[in-house]
Amino acid sequence: MVDALRPASADDWLIVAGDIGERFSDVERTLRSLRSRFAAVIWAPGNHELWTLPDDPVQLRGQARYRALVELCRTLDVATPEDPYPVWRGPGGPVTVAPLFLLYDYSFRPPGTRTAQEALAAAHAAGVVCTDELLLHPDPYPSRADWCAARLAETERLLAARDPALPTVLVNHFPLRREPTEILRHPEFAQWCGTERTRDWHRRFNAAAVVYGHLHIPRDLSTDGVPFLEVSLGYPREWQPRGAAPAPRRILPATAPPASPLPPGHPLSTLPAPGRPPTVRPPAARPAAVRQPWPVRV
Ligand SMILES: [Fe+2]
Repeated sequence: MVDALRPASADDWLIVAGDIGERFSDVERTLRSLRSRFAAVIWAPGNHELWTLPDDPVQLRGQARYRALVELCRTLDVATPEDPYPVWRGPGGPVTVAPLFLLYDYSFRPPGTRTAQEALAAAHAAGVVCTDELLLHPDPYPSRADWCAARLAETERLLAARDPALPTVLVNHFPLRREPTEILRHPEFAQWCGTERTRDWHRRFNAAAVVYGHLHIPRDLSTDGVPFLEVSLGYPREWQPRGAAPAPRRILPATAPPASPLPPGHPLSTLPAPGRPPTVRPPAARPAAVRQPWPVRV
């Protein structure tokens, strides 16, 4: 699939929004291959790159693993959240493209829970616990939530220092708002999918588009007129029944943002109508086509 991925033009950039692989060598091989074909490659880490698998020769954990991935990207000339944000000057530009690494802090809590501890307890009770709990180590931070807090502070500093005259494309593996998670088959899983603290970042940082993955539910939503685009490829078992792998999603020039919220009654209408609180659909009401069958592997 990676070998078949080709740019439409020699000037195309490619955003890789995380979860390339779980072993260091797989990440290196994939990014090297993509960089050889695209004019630029921009990477934001997913949770899977940050796993430390027992059989990976690279046994770095937590921040040390992230920093090693950043150094790897620099040897490959791939942009990371630690580098000056590149400015796209092609069609739809100029736009600052900002890859972000923010993680999550368990604030997308399931209904009926008031604290992160209660949210995690509900996930254990439901048997829906992200593999990150075993393999994504927060070292040297005490917890993944603490690491998230540090990333938020550092990223706010970097975004504040960008050229304020240009709009941005914000690229984060995890959705910047909770609404896209409300269609998850298991609401307990949302706590591993982002943080409430980025809820207004599309406005604060003048986003022309927000790009994310992680949920394996590719779709276009919008908030405040800003497109929120889930670009995840998913596992082969998810797309092979439909044939070939999905083509890359064009981000710029931007297409017209989808209506927000989706019309009442639409099967993907999970965003609240104006003035109404978000709703969480019961499992029976969710369309099978957008179910997330393998939540513990996301
Ligand atoms: Fe992910």
